[in-house]
Amino acid sequence: MKRLGILLSGRGSNFLAIAKAIREQRLLGARIAVVLSNREDAAGLDAARDLKIPAFCIPSAGHKRREHDAEVMARLHQHRVDLICLAGYMRVITEEFVRAFPNRILNIHPSLLPSFPGLDAQRQALEYGAKVAGCTVHFVDEAVDHGVIILQKAVPIKEDDTVETLSARLLQQEHAIYPEAIARVLSGDYVIEDRRYVRRDK
Ligand code: GAR
Repeated sequence: MKRLGILLSGRGSNFLAIAKAIREQRLLGARIAVVLSNREDAAGLDAARDLKIPAFCIPSAGHKRREHDAEVMARLHQHRVDLICLAGYMRVITEEFVRAFPNRILNIHPSLLPSFPGLDAQRQALEYGAKVAGCTVHFVDEAVDHGVIILQKAVPIKEDDTVETLSARLLQQEHAIYPEAIARVLSGDYVIEDRRYVRRDK
């Protein structure tokens, strides 16, 4: 059984989509070992506690990034986590953290990377006048929103879209591709060639 560690900062709908996929046996051989948030007010923490999943806040405010990450890593080790899923974790993690879990940290981002990295990706796409938005699941490396891409899904932008309407349509696709990407990574049926994630049949 592979043990997932979820890191979030807010609502937690991607976390819940992963939990649902496990419940519905779309993510075989996985369980969520722990949910960590850097904010106590994250709704995702309450949702995890409702599901009886161990859930803790490790507050980031007022703490040095390295010290905070060291605490997070310690907690992930304590729960013997195999794969870490950033799910709306609105913090940049240190190189030490990335190196401690090589190709073992995934992130979901609400744009078709490398377009619109960073904050407010949906607003960036709208303001740029893009006609197609999307979402990306990628491995986390030392640069922000930069690692090897596992899965992407395109979502057309409508002329009357607002940040809210576009975000809602993107979120539906996020909920579909994140569990799928996790399943692919856990299967181990892939190689990474330069920047390319390539599926391999066993
Ligand atoms: C999601 O749209 C996720 O892609 C985004 O935050 C939202 C979290 O929602 N993440 C980022 O922007 C990371 N740079 P959720 O808490 O309901 O999963």
